[in-house]
Amino acid sequence: MLAQASPCHAHALQRTAAGLAEPLSVPARMEWTTRPGQGPGAEILGRDLRGKRLLELGCGPGHNAAHLATRHGAHVTGVDLVGLQVRRARSHYGRLNTLTFVAGHALHYLHATDDQFDAIYSVFGAIGLVAPELLLPAIAQRLAPGRVLAFSIPHPQRGGRSPSGDDRPRRDHVTLPDRTRLPIARWEFSTDRWERHLSQAGFWLTSAQEFRDPRMGHWPTTLLIRARKL
Ligand SMILES: C[S@@+](CC[C@H](N)C(=O)[O-])C[C@H]1O[C@@H](n2cnc3c(N)ncnc32)[C@H](O)[C@@H]1O
Repeated sequence: MLAQASPCHAHALQRTAAGLAEPLSVPARMEWTTRPGQGPGAEILGRDLRGKRLLELGCGPGHNAAHLATRHGAHVTGVDLVGLQVRRARSHYGRLNTLTFVAGHALHYLHATDDQFDAIYSVFGAIGLVAPELLLPAIAQRLAPGRVLAFSIPHPQRGGRSPSGDDRPRRDHVTLPDRTRLPIARWEFSTDRWERHLSQAGFWLTSAQEFRDPRMGHWPTTLLIRARKL
């Protein structure tokens, strides 16, 4: 349950097979939700990010990391479990010299590094896919007091579901580009349960916002949580 590499790997493999990863222009906005253009942008991580050290856990193809490095002058490290994603991110944005992509499990990276960050974030990335009682304390170790942790996750009430009644993960599915569905474990907490886990790991929750996407009915689709290290 620690490394859910195979569904993510299968996803990246199909994506990679679908076409060459070419250099891309950097997105004009940071996206936290399923609906581009909606919700806050980079400001949630701090007002002036110039020269700040940021870490993304589960960066995928690196669009948000590239935005933060280029449009905000931050030094960004993007970590992803799937080597193919990291290759893709490097093909898209490897030319940017304040951006580094690393292949590895978020938890292993956090345990191995000595670096401290000004903010750590995840956009439908590792947070929610790794046991929070392991991941959140490891994140806390790499942030000084007052620093920000922000993450978006699929909303636990999307499609009419309800949040977990306990601390265990639930079975969910990753849908591959060819529509195959592979099982994945996901922590589907309510805001209150996230707040409890955050507080145990040494954070206080500063905001929780939910977003809807009209293409996906009236249920909320994204939960965006922001916290600060105590
Ligand atoms: C849905 S994608 C989101 C990618 C990116 N954040 C974005 O918004 O485009 C989830 C990513 O998290 C990565 N991931 C899943 N579990 C991880 C883990 N334990 N450590 C690091 N990355 C992980 C997957 O490989 C995948 O690239």
